[in-house]
Amino acid sequence: MSESQILGTVLGQGRRADEVLIVSTIEKTGTLRRGAILAHDTLSETMLLQVANKMTWSDVNEQDLYLMSENERLAYQIIQRSPKSYVLSCTIAGAIRDEGDGPQIFSGTISFVADKSSEVRALNPEEVKTIYDRGTLFVGRTVDDHPVTLPVNGLVQRHLSIIGMTGSGKSYLLGLLCEELARRKAAILIVDPHNEYIPLAQTLPRETRRMLYSVGTATGLNTYTLDVKEISTFDFQHFTGMGPGSTSIVETVLQGLRENTPQYTIQDVLNELDARAKHGQPSEKAAATWARNYIQTLANTGMIGIREPPIREMVGANQVTVIAMSGVRERIQQFVVTSILKRVFDARRQREIPPLLLIVEEAHRFAPSRESASSSAMMRTLAAEGRKFGVCLVVVSQRPNRLDTTVLSQCVTNIVMKVKNPADLASIRESAENVTEDLLGELPRFERGDALVMGEAFPISIRFKTRSDRTTMHGGKSVDFEAVWQAESERRDVKRFAFPTKL
Ligand SMILES: Nc1ncnc2c1ncn2[C@@H]1O[C@H](COP(=O)(O)OP(=O)(O)OP(=O)(O)O)[C@@H](O)[C@H]1O
Ligand SMILES: [Mg+2]
Repeated sequence: MSESQILGTVLGQGRRADEVLIVSTIEKTGTLRRGAILAHDTLSETMLLQVANKMTWSDVNEQDLYLMSENERLAYQIIQRSPKSYVLSCTIAGAIRDEGDGPQIFSGTISFVADKSSEVRALNPEEVKTIYDRGTLFVGRTVDDHPVTLPVNGLVQRHLSIIGMTGSGKSYLLGLLCEELARRKAAILIVDPHNEYIPLAQTLPRETRRMLYSVGTATGLNTYTLDVKEISTFDFQHFTGMGPGSTSIVETVLQGLRENTPQYTIQDVLNELDARAKHGQPSEKAAATWARNYIQTLANTGMIGIREPPIREMVGANQVTVIAMSGVRERIQQFVVTSILKRVFDARRQREIPPLLLIVEEAHRFAPSRESASSSAMMRTLAAEGRKFGVCLVVVSQRPNRLDTTVLSQCVTNIVMKVKNPADLASIRESAENVTEDLLGELPRFERGDALVMGEAFPISIRFKTRSDRTTMHGGKSVDFEAVWQAESERRDVKRFAFPTKL
């Protein structure tokens, strides 16, 4: 392709002020797909026009002609006359100006009156670089096949959200980012409710340190235990669902232990309850027995200990840490998250640990929008203040609409993947900067791995297809139903119930 291949001619403004109609006859349409960016030179700058829609004469409905603007009608008359041409409706994505220190992208309200009959051309290599090659993290390619790179600092100096429906490719992309950042010696802590990131950590290059914790008992991983002394009566009640009678006995027991045995263990709590169940007042025996049973079940999970792992063991440069919480009750997961956020925040304030990425998968569980979780307040605090202390919060969610608005709105960088639900699209419209209606309209049509990155470090939102060549293993793989069924049916070690042929 020549440096400035002419792609079409401006026909004039579309229905909206930021819409430009272009007539083109180029048949090789790779460069003219939805989302592609074209250039239009004016005297002082280069306007960047993003393809929002493409229409051929067969798409025109005669009846629509009455609803069209004058320019639209004109456009469709042209393509009806020459069926090989088509109309591109483009939005003004921004402009490139050189004010002395190299080409810079400008966006926001750009006033521009399209000059009829002037030419629209393909981006030249320098413009491609200015728009898409924004850093060193190689994440994928645009619809028209330009490589897309993101800047490390631009991405991590502000909080980041990754939003998209199930299967849209969020965790795969996040894994790719972790892989790239790990090579840059990043400190990464991942809160992993589904144990999806264990394979990632296990397959990172050997130079990267990794720490794998599992809350409670999971073989082969370090155990993440909660400090029993940090668990209040309310927490015990919240975790186990015990009734008011048992709760008040637990309160009495904990008060006694705090006064007499400050370094108490869960076994001390159980012993005290046991004693009351056997020798207490007749009125409290039953409640103490219930409380004992509830807390014994909790203790059996192995997640109650006498201390939590030291924060300096959990966070370090050139280290990826995964806190695997699969199988743990949601309320306990919320307790763990609160504790981790608190400790990370304090340690960063004291400069005990390096700046880090704190990734919270399924973030709507920890800061839901409609109700309040025990972790909500700490999530909000970290979202509001963490950045100043070098904590980059990364929230991942399928449902932005279910995610606390304070948390979501503090995520200045957003990576959005396929989204269909209108309520979720509305949340994105409210919280994301410089996202156009056309791009939002595209989100339901996104394919797996398609992503749109927007935010302060990206004057123009960039759409890309995530690379598929991660070197680490992805733990959230979709199940291949057919293959598993086939394999299971061939197993000889499973006795199957044979339906009698004769009754
Ligand atoms: N860029 C990609 N290249 C190849 N495979 C991909 C890519 N992105 C996603 N996949 C595959 O698609 C499936 C779903 O991706 P992923 O686990 O990232 O979805 P998700 O958005 O995290 O979904 P959920 O919200 O349910 O966790 C996985 O099997 C993953 O391996
Ligand atoms: Mg996922």
